[in-house]
Amino acid sequence: MAISMLFAAGLLLARASMASPIGLASIHNASGCGKDPGVGINTRINATLPSGRTYLFWVPPNYDSRKATPLILSFHGGTRTPDSQADLDLLTTPFFNTDHIVVYPSSGQYGENRGRYWQGAPQVPADVDDVAYVLEVLDAVESWLCIDADRVYATGKSQGGRMTNNLACDARSSARIAAFAPVSGSYYVNATGAECTPLTLAFECHPARTRVPMFIFHGGDDKTINYGGGPRSGECLPYIPHFVAAWAARDGLGDGPEEVGPLPGAGDNATLYRYGYRSRQDLVEFVYSGDRVDHQWPATIPNTDSVEHGAPPATFNASSIIMDFFGRYTLQGRR
Ligand SMILES: *[C@@H]1O[C@H](CO)[C@@H](O)[C@H](O)[C@H]1NC(C)=O
Ligand SMILES: *[C@@H]1O[C@H](CO)[C@@H](O)[C@H](O)[C@H]1NC(C)=O
Ligand SMILES: *[C@@H]1O[C@H](CO)[C@@H](O)[C@H](O)[C@H]1NC(C)=O
Ligand SMILES: *[C@@H]1O[C@H](CO)[C@@H](O)[C@H](O)[C@H]1NC(C)=O
Ligand SMILES: *[C@@H]1O[C@H](CO)[C@@H](O)[C@H](O)[C@H]1NC(C)=O
Repeated sequence: MAISMLFAAGLLLARASMASPIGLASIHNASGCGKDPGVGINTRINATLPSGRTYLFWVPPNYDSRKATPLILSFHGGTRTPDSQADLDLLTTPFFNTDHIVVYPSSGQYGENRGRYWQGAPQVPADVDDVAYVLEVLDAVESWLCIDADRVYATGKSQGGRMTNNLACDARSSARIAAFAPVSGSYYVNATGAECTPLTLAFECHPARTRVPMFIFHGGDDKTINYGGGPRSGECLPYIPHFVAAWAARDGLGDGPEEVGPLPGAGDNATLYRYGYRSRQDLVEFVYSGDRVDHQWPATIPNTDSVEHGAPPATFNASSIIMDFFGRYTLQGRR
């Protein structure tokens, strides 16, 4: 089943690229609306781009090619895989998502262990352009599925959170993705020694929009990507509240959050910080996931992250909050 699906998807991609030999822009404009997608629904399927890079995707059971369908990109962490990310975010389960297509991109592989790492991580050569790869994936998917181009979203864990931030910070992708939700992100800056100042690091970030919706999650007990930041893998990580404040400043919001309080329905000191007011209400939000939450995708049921770190499950489901957040935004702004 999966193999024949992959074959069908490959044929469709091949047809799309043959029909549009002049390049990506025209593929981007090609629309899958009204076309039989020719792929299975409610099942994970691997696909390959003309460039040879791969990705995993999932089409919801109620997919209708006559209806523009929102899409979520979800990025795996360092050394992880698209399938493992789907096991973690559970965005292909009806509890969290019944009507969004989910695409799980796959990073390049580096080093002797051929580990998967995303652009901007210390393991990845400086000239790697994963943003271009993600846009190629979007173009391909838009050419054979009926995508709502105003409702494309990005999330991811750890280096996948970093890749989510790369997309928010790049003019090419921030012009096409409506909202961003990095979880336990590794926001490396190439600074060492005395230049590694987690509270004041400057970030390379050049979005195409002045209002980029960002929802950031981080655990207080993250022992991999420390909440307090500092040197790691030859580069430097920021103090997370500084990273959040830098987004608030970039989005033209005030110095501090308008609202701080316990995350509704959650325990363990999980705290919600909301930045922005009036037309920019809640444009930047941050959840301190709790004092006991380690380097994990917060969920109230054990997942591979909490098991791996021997950490208790969180007191809330990040996936629920992320879906609510995405639901509040289109590329045009707050709904
Ligand atoms: C594709 O869309 C872009 C932006 O909407 C437009 O500038 C470009 O001319 C279109 N290309 C084709 C081949 O229709
Ligand atoms: C996708 O491809 C990877 C690598 O070949 C494989 O390990 C994984 O099981 C595949 N996933 C699905 C859903 O077919
Ligand atoms: C980090 O900075 C050093 C010194 O400026 C440079 O040699 C190195 O290539 C940079 N690394 C990356 C990944 O950009
Ligand atoms: C609760 O969370 C904040 C961070 O938002 C932290 O600074 C504080 O120490 C925590 N308080 C307790 C009692 O754990
Ligand atoms: C969190 O999600 C799981 C399903 O993955 C569900 O069983 C559980 O009830 C949810 N917890 C809350 C507090 O909603």
